[in-house]
Amino acid sequence: MCGIVGYLGTKPAYEILTQGLHRLEYRGYDSSGVAIENDGGEMHVYKSQGKVSNLEAAVDGKPHDGTLGIAHTRWATHGIPNDINAHPHVSDDGRIALVHNGTIENYAVLHEALAGHGCKFTSETDTEVLVQLIEYIRLTNDCTLADAVREALGQVIGAFAIAVIERDNPDLLIAARRSSPLVIGIGDGETFIASDATPIVGYTDKVVYLGDDEMALIRRNEPLEVISLNDGSHPGLDIQTLRLSVEQLEKGGYDTFMLKEIFEQPDTLRDCLRGRITADGNRVILSGVLDNKERFLNANRIVIVACGTSWHAALIGKRLIQDMCALPVEVEYASEFRYGSPFITDRDIVIAISQSGETADTLAAIELAKSKGAFVYGICNVVGASIPRATDSGTYIHVGPEIGVASTKAFTGQVTVLTLLALCAGQLRGTISQQQVTAIAGELLRIPDILRQVLKLDDAIREMSRIFTYARNFLYLGRGYNYPTALEGALKLKEISYIHAEGYPAAEMKHGPIALIDKDMPSVIIAPSDSLYDKIVSNVQQVKSRGGHVIAITNTGNEDMRKLADYCLEIPRVMECLTPIVASVPLQLLAYYVAHYKGCDVDQPRNLAKSVTVE
Ligand code: G6P
Repeated sequence: MCGIVGYLGTKPAYEILTQGLHRLEYRGYDSSGVAIENDGGEMHVYKSQGKVSNLEAAVDGKPHDGTLGIAHTRWATHGIPNDINAHPHVSDDGRIALVHNGTIENYAVLHEALAGHGCKFTSETDTEVLVQLIEYIRLTNDCTLADAVREALGQVIGAFAIAVIERDNPDLLIAARRSSPLVIGIGDGETFIASDATPIVGYTDKVVYLGDDEMALIRRNEPLEVISLNDGSHPGLDIQTLRLSVEQLEKGGYDTFMLKEIFEQPDTLRDCLRGRITADGNRVILSGVLDNKERFLNANRIVIVACGTSWHAALIGKRLIQDMCALPVEVEYASEFRYGSPFITDRDIVIAISQSGETADTLAAIELAKSKGAFVYGICNVVGASIPRATDSGTYIHVGPEIGVASTKAFTGQVTVLTLLALCAGQLRGTISQQQVTAIAGELLRIPDILRQVLKLDDAIREMSRIFTYARNFLYLGRGYNYPTALEGALKLKEISYIHAEGYPAAEMKHGPIALIDKDMPSVIIAPSDSLYDKIVSNVQQVKSRGGHVIAITNTGNEDMRKLADYCLEIPRVMECLTPIVASVPLQLLAYYVAHYKGCDVDQPRNLAKSVTVE
């Protein structure tokens, strides 16, 4: 949550910082702010409730020149979203400005101690405590800003990525992190810092991912210095090359990032599959699995941990791995796993799935699994993020940056990688026949083209969605492989349209949700022609006989369903284990257009954030 950007260089900092904030807005967008220092050491701080565009309007016409600055876009944890609680926070004497992503868990204790020393607070945030503590240490110890920051961070419990500047010191930018992410971009005579690499793209491709408990001292015309917060040592700098382009970050002619990302799926899945199935179609090559052959051969069990949409992908992964690898698989919410005293041994493989690679609960679950000796495998999208760095091995889904807060292409990428993983490990373990591997791998390779056909439903779904904006509740039903698809369809709708939606295993409808069905509660029923088709048909009938409206996702040319359901969205027939990928695309479009016609902000729905780096 929250995005931070910092710049020290030769160009006007303000434009770089606000552009960076726009790119980071997916992390939180309830308020934003900027602190700019000009070459004479004069500092200006501006803050504004709402989106970054409000901040820009507030700054318009006011002094904002300078080549040093820090900025922040917020997702509130402590204190309501308003101008005062927005970052940067400034110390009592107006000298030090700080932006923070994370949570200071012991802020109440620190607050009390500082208030006892006469320190005055203006905001309700945990962050202000940190900037006041830095000022207090700086004054009482008469030390440098860097020493004060290090000392203060030593007293902090919790997660942080911070950037700090001080008045009358236009040549120094300090950054530090613990648990929350921070990337440093090294340009020619200029240095950038940001919560992820997107604000840096287009300026430099040389980046350093700051490690946990490290502090970066960025000084004008001097090389970057990184210091361990623990012992003051200098860890070596691992300068990496960024492979992201500006084009990848833009909307490419679509109205929203979400729509662009839905339509990108044929291409993103092709990228995801590239090089992972041999040319003869007979083998799946996932180096993360093959390089750890013994682990997969000797595993007793697989536990998958994830949150949100990634958790839905995990449920599909469970079926895939159980069916192809003959291994028991459990799926846990990372937030429950981390506090649930899980029984884990060194014969377990823990798979962590995360689009962003930064989700705090998933990271904590990984650390716990590692401490119990499990082999931890990551499935992630953002290259170089904290989760792929914390895991023993893994696979990137390679679907490109996902900016829309509601996950779409990352979900289908995750399910694709889970299918590849199940095939690869199943082949290794001898639990799947060659014939099956060849058949499933062959069909997987056709999925990008199949999705192109599915996307032709766009017009029909757009038309139909207009009708359903009246609904206050929706029911989503699916069975087997498509029970998680129903959960994901319901999540998409509630995230972006604010319509309450429940996903249910279809057969469970009769144990409760059937009581809700009437003409005002539409049911979306995922009914492909698979092994459970006949059972699903009776669910459709049950809904219809109670006056409910049915939107059925079924296979092309299903005349019977056309007669039964009110609306049919017909998708090409694919093997049962691959239906979630294909069936989830019309559900994404349905959620999208319902939200669109309700006038909702589809890319940045209220109260949500893309990367949840707090508990
Ligand atoms: C947030 C996002 C969801 C996402 C979840 C897990 O809640 O809004 O779209 O599914 O976090 O994120 P991750 O990056 O770990 O997949």
